[in-house]
Amino acid sequence: MNRKFYITTPIYYVNDVPHIGHAYTTIAADVAARYRRLDGDDVFFLTGTDEHGQKVQQAAEQAGRSAQAYVDALHKPFKDLWARFNISNTDFIRTTEERHTRVVREILQALHEKGEIYRDSYEGWYCMPDERFWTEKDLVEGNCPECGRKVEKIKEYNYFFKMSQYQEWLIDHIQKNESFILPASRKNEILGFLKKPLEDLCISRPKERLAWGIPLPFDEDYVTYVWFDALINYISIHGSHDEILKCDYWPAAHHLIGKDILTTHAVYWSTMLKAIGISPPLNIFAHGWWTVEGKKMSKSLRNVVEPNLLIDQFGVDVIRYFLMREVPFGLDGDFSHKALIGRVNSDLANNLGNLLNRTLNMLGKYFEGRVPEIDVEGDEDAGLKGKSKEVVEQVNELYDELAYNRILMKIWELLDASNQYINSTAPWNLAKSDDGKKRLATVLYNAAEACRVIAILIHPFMPDTSKKMMQQLGVETPIEDQGLPSIRTWGWLSASAQSKQGEQIFPRIEDKAAEKILATVEVKASGDDGAAAVEEDNLIQIDDFMRLDLRVALILEAEKVKKSKKLIKLKVDLGHEQRQVVAGIAESYEPEQLVGRKVILVANLKPAKLMGIESQGMILAGSDQGKVVLAGFDEELELGARVK
Ligand code: ME8
Ligand code: MG
Repeated sequence: MNRKFYITTPIYYVNDVPHIGHAYTTIAADVAARYRRLDGDDVFFLTGTDEHGQKVQQAAEQAGRSAQAYVDALHKPFKDLWARFNISNTDFIRTTEERHTRVVREILQALHEKGEIYRDSYEGWYCMPDERFWTEKDLVEGNCPECGRKVEKIKEYNYFFKMSQYQEWLIDHIQKNESFILPASRKNEILGFLKKPLEDLCISRPKERLAWGIPLPFDEDYVTYVWFDALINYISIHGSHDEILKCDYWPAAHHLIGKDILTTHAVYWSTMLKAIGISPPLNIFAHGWWTVEGKKMSKSLRNVVEPNLLIDQFGVDVIRYFLMREVPFGLDGDFSHKALIGRVNSDLANNLGNLLNRTLNMLGKYFEGRVPEIDVEGDEDAGLKGKSKEVVEQVNELYDELAYNRILMKIWELLDASNQYINSTAPWNLAKSDDGKKRLATVLYNAAEACRVIAILIHPFMPDTSKKMMQQLGVETPIEDQGLPSIRTWGWLSASAQSKQGEQIFPRIEDKAAEKILATVEVKASGDDGAAAVEEDNLIQIDDFMRLDLRVALILEAEKVKKSKKLIKLKVDLGHEQRQVVAGIAESYEPEQLVGRKVILVANLKPAKLMGIESQGMILAGSDQGKVVLAGFDEELELGARVK
């Protein structure tokens, strides 16, 4: 009977374009899925898109489209990129699909009937970009503890999931199940979080504030909180509650996620499942965070690592390999083009490419390309075979920990051993005598078999390369049919396979080409330290806007600037300080009209001199065909109050 293996990625928000961070998680899941299939497991690999919620609604509005039309269009770049990256997902879930929304409503209804959900008034601090409520004590310096942005105080009636009652159960579950949350550092982070009392979870949003969501089945004035909706994707794909209980794929073997969404998975999702009466996943693995060329991946810097461009430039397998090899899964990483080129040249071109080439070359030269029968054995053989066995076994163990970079290091040990085997048996000398040729047959059989073992082992990471290697070795059986059983014992490869040396699987990136690549990266990445990035479509992030310090100011004094038609010098009061500001409003206002008015001051503008007079800020005004009108307020506000 086949073992079942279920692995998932987060479902990504459609309001962002897919980038290298999303590709990372998805490729990691793909590698594990492909490996398990090689072992004959029945694999279900799920990815998809998160299509409800405030961010999506806002993005659709800004794009001037209906939310449905927007998500219908914007989930496609994800699907397309996964196809390009050779992602072998079984299904792709969109949270706007009926098969998902139906199950979410079923679960909500059942939880409501069981008394797991109640209605209450709620007053809390809401972080709009993160769509999360925080309590007063969660806030860090008055801001969102997760993203550091401003929060708003909101009071409203809402529905709550009784999450708090599962705190003890959750702590116990985490402690008893070593590999429930990995890596261990993340487990400790969650146990630390659970030292504070767990609160109930607000799972609704009033429709008047947010319409784009799944309506609550028991109160249509509300939609479901986007996380409560999204997390259910992992089970809704398998059907209703009863179907899930019968489904062999559940509990999932791995939920792969980034460390940014660990709490929602480890705490919300686990307790939701507990309440629903479904067992928790076997493992939640929160990997680390990628930067690009040492900097935070801001939108403009992302152009440098736009996945489609990277694929055009380096090829699918190079990117897959680099992401999995460069950093231990779990730790943060940096996407540097220099490191990437280094890996292509050393690991792929020199090592892997070279082993295959020299093997094929010698098969061609000495045996007309045919893989020879084993003949005379020698001392060196046992070492190579032993290494292969060791690597195959250890790789298998490392997959349990998803230790991708160590898996690759292990496979490269076999590569080194194989190159070494060729060096020490020296086929070029053996070819000189008839006796030597008998030994040569064995040596080249073993070299070819080593190439095949390696091709199978790298298949999960580099499926195209693996296929090319098999073609060149003349092995016709599909890789999936060879599978892991074919490499557990040495000698699956049948003599008489007709090899054909093809093009280099990984050409070296020569110095000139490398310089060119690095120069364009520098140009694109320069002048951007990740802050205040203006996007191509002219949209800014909320935190770009939040960098503006806008304040309520009272005009105390006003006088025309001599020899200027436009400028007026003002003294304004911000409550705790006074400033001198020069404003270009003299054609529309007389100084005396200005005194006593409350205006909006950009308070964190670098001081500048206008006609020799220092201006410490800027007053906001609208202008239309030369007429200038100051922005202000209909009602009284405290001096110095923040405007946003
Ligand atoms: O959070 N480095 O979606 P999302 C590494 N819809 N991984 C990164 C990354 C980076 N710089 N940037 C993104 C959501 N990721 C929710 C999930 S699940 C029920 C709902 C990856 O589009 C990483 O996997 O913001 C991270 O967890 C995920 O993208 C966040 O994707
Ligand atoms: Mg995110």
